[in-house]
Amino acid sequence: MPDDSFTAADPIKKFLMWYSEAQTGRRGKGLKNYLVSSGFGLLRRVLSSIFPESNLFRPDVSTLATISHDNKPSARSILFHGLAEGGFSFYTDYESEKGIELELNPSAVIVFYWRLPPRQVRIDGKVQRLSREAAKFYWESRTRANQVAAAAVRQSSTISGREELIKKTRYIEQLYRGKPIPCPDSWGGYSLVPEKIEFWEGRRDWLHDRERYILNDGRWTNVKLAP
Ligand SMILES: Cc1cc2nc3c(=O)[nH]c(=O)nc-3n(C[C@H](O)[C@H](O)[C@H](O)COP(=O)(O)O)c2cc1C
Repeated sequence: MPDDSFTAADPIKKFLMWYSEAQTGRRGKGLKNYLVSSGFGLLRRVLSSIFPESNLFRPDVSTLATISHDNKPSARSILFHGLAEGGFSFYTDYESEKGIELELNPSAVIVFYWRLPPRQVRIDGKVQRLSREAAKFYWESRTRANQVAAAAVRQSSTISGREELIKKTRYIEQLYRGKPIPCPDSWGGYSLVPEKIEFWEGRRDWLHDRERYILNDGRWTNVKLAP
């Protein structure tokens, strides 16, 4: 295995390094990685225009696990939006199932899995809402179709079918014709403030690497775990 798969003292730095490597599918640092990354950026754009639904090198897709009101696990995919306000951020509808669960119990886990190189990162912690300014800023960067869809219905509410969805989106389109669509009060971000971060890296000989970092009194300590 390459020598550059080092263990960083700070798990956030290590996460960022792995995250950048997951975008290129390659280990490594410096100019080489930058060039590979730029090359893949171009390749991604070309492939995305040919196969719009292609999810090649989407390191931001992750799984968010929460706890339901009756103490059951609850999980779904989300898009990671970078480090913000002390944690790992994502955006959603505060009135969705996950939103309601997180208001009742802020404990959550985000799990990333990347195929190339084979790696998993698990982040345990508690969420806090991102600022309203952050929500508005991100809302404005979304496409209009995306805004219409998010403003038309409450996420996770029961609907009669696609016709209802189309009717409600048409209503929003007409309501805001020629005007910006305001960010709904219930739409915004969370930051998962980490308390524990675990890294897993697959090895060909099945002796995979696992390392768990725990935050105690503001300091990270780490232990190695059997795979
Ligand atoms: C790849 C992928 C990315 C997604 N990203 C998000 C996201 O960033 N935010 C979100 O609210 N829902 C996202 N969703 C939809 C959620 O998985 C889920 O269906 C929705 O949020 C409702 O979940 P809930 O009922 O548990 O609240 C994504 C789905 C997929 C398949």
